[in-house]
Amino acid sequence: MAESCRIVAEVFEGIKKKISPGVSTKEINEFAESYIISRGARPAFKGYRGYPASVCTSINEQVVHGIPSSQKLREGDIISLDIGVFYKGFYGDAAVTLPVGSVSNQAMKLISVTEKALEAGMERAVAGNRLSDISSAIQGCVEAEGFSIVRSFVGHGIGRELHEEPQIPNFGKPGEGPELRPGMTLAIEPMVNEGGWEVVILNDGWTAVTKDRSLSAHFEHTVAITKNGCNILTKL
Ligand code: MF3
Ligand code: CO
Repeated sequence: MAESCRIVAEVFEGIKKKISPGVSTKEINEFAESYIISRGARPAFKGYRGYPASVCTSINEQVVHGIPSSQKLREGDIISLDIGVFYKGFYGDAAVTLPVGSVSNQAMKLISVTEKALEAGMERAVAGNRLSDISSAIQGCVEAEGFSIVRSFVGHGIGRELHEEPQIPNFGKPGEGPELRPGMTLAIEPMVNEGGWEVVILNDGWTAVTKDRSLSAHFEHTVAITKNGCNILTKL
């Protein structure tokens, strides 16, 4: 798990330098795909339920699962990048939202609140806690800042499959669901909207956008629950 997740983290290191006005999402996808293959790994999303690319590139009001295209990034956009890798039998999965050039204060706030919500969730991902302690921490963090948490997509267990039990909602009461135990590996992934939580899927069958077309951000890490706390595997 650590090895596949390390490759995911390395792709992000490379991609961050490439994000600037004028770059197309297709170019970002090609960079990631060749890097993953050069490391002897496989892009996990390509072909997954028919998804056509190695990276999900979701711009502005796009929440998740945006498909790379010839569309170029513009100054002031925010872009969510979601990457999965399969290596030596195990999956790694992570996502970040990045500003393109300089963006509005509100967009920066959305990005930082979403990242903080992921951190709050990971802080609760310790042995002895219950699953929904993660969910509840994420929701609390987001709603305290006046943003809303997406409900129709969830985090997930991950390991020999990309999506394993349990599902990890990003909202709910604490103290519910299975007890967290050492050895569990989870992909925790809050998706946060500037406006309402509702999302709709575009006609391409993949791209989720906010129903009110407000901005959306997404952060994700694959973590391992250990005896000594939460080990963030997709962080270098
Ligand atoms: N991080 C997302 C997830 O866990 C990415 C999946 S994209 C897909 O569902 F294309 F593979 F579906
Ligand atoms: Co995921």
